[in-house]
Amino acid sequence: MVDLRVELAGIKLSNPTVLASGILGDNAALLRRAAKTGFGAVTTKSFTIEPREGYATPIIAEVKAGLLNAVGLANPGYKEIKDILPKARVNGVPIIVSLAGSKIDEFVEMAIYAEDWGADIVELNLSCPHVSMMGMDIGHDPAFVANLVGELTGVIETPVFIKIGLTDNYMEVVSRALDKGAAGITAINTVKAMAINIYAKTPVLSHRYGGLSGPAIHPIATRVIYDIYREFKPPIIGIGGVEAWEDAVEFLLAGATAIGIGTAVSKHGLTISKVVSDGIRTYLEREGFESVRDIIGYVHRK
Ligand SMILES: Cc1cc2nc3c(=O)[nH]c(=O)nc-3n(C[C@H](O)[C@H](O)[C@H](O)COP(=O)(O)O)c2cc1C
Repeated sequence: MVDLRVELAGIKLSNPTVLASGILGDNAALLRRAAKTGFGAVTTKSFTIEPREGYATPIIAEVKAGLLNAVGLANPGYKEIKDILPKARVNGVPIIVSLAGSKIDEFVEMAIYAEDWGADIVELNLSCPHVSMMGMDIGHDPAFVANLVGELTGVIETPVFIKIGLTDNYMEVVSRALDKGAAGITAINTVKAMAINIYAKTPVLSHRYGGLSGPAIHPIATRVIYDIYREFKPPIIGIGGVEAWEDAVEFLLAGATAIGIGTAVSKHGLTISKVVSDGIRTYLEREGFESVRDIIGYVHRK
């Protein structure tokens, strides 16, 4: 029997699949169900310091080979962590708490709170492409990210991951974050995109721009994971368009330790984690590997 267990900065996962942030909103019961259904870890929706209603509908549109969303980081505010985390926790499945903000002191306040309520990993959403002064707007600035990570690793013991998106300078951002003690990298968030209704002659989403997810971004994510692993070899949660075990194996070979799944959950349901981990297991058996850890970054050895 091959071994599917992996570790993210000392946090043990029974298999490499991770529920990506935002897909099930902030619903504790759904996070719990995801953990029970077979995900190796689950990620919360990004919390912000104040509750956010998000944008007016339409906030989601189906496009070729993916999904376009501009939810606007709708969430009940970080204080809900204290209600959601204990309810979501089941079978010791690690919970990754995602945080979004504009200022360092906001992140510090939320990260301490998340740690107090048992977050296993704190993930900084530095890459949401559709909310101004948050996400990508701050995450593309290496100096800001370095300061932020430095502050957080000074005040919490919980491993801090930064979630990056597609920017020209992601290697510099990653390098500065790792220098300041980031425990790992989550890559990638959705990619800023747009769809236009040709009859209404307006953008489809109320916010005009949205984030593209799903199969369309899978090769982009593979490239980003490959680059980061080749240069730094940190623990990586690879995310982007995984909807079958083959996609997950591709990320593992590129250097991901764990595999985030988002859009495919809305398409195929929570059992996707089991389909993907079963597929990885069969692949490892057929290819003669004893552990999933043996193929992490394998492509770099060739
Ligand atoms: C509806 C929706 C909401 C999302 N909300 C968040 C969020 O709150 N925080 C975050 O870091 N990423 C969020 N994401 C991005 C996903 O976590 C993931 O990085 C992205 O969708 C790419 O993975 P996928 O192709 O498997 O969906 C969201 C994605 C979708 C589709």
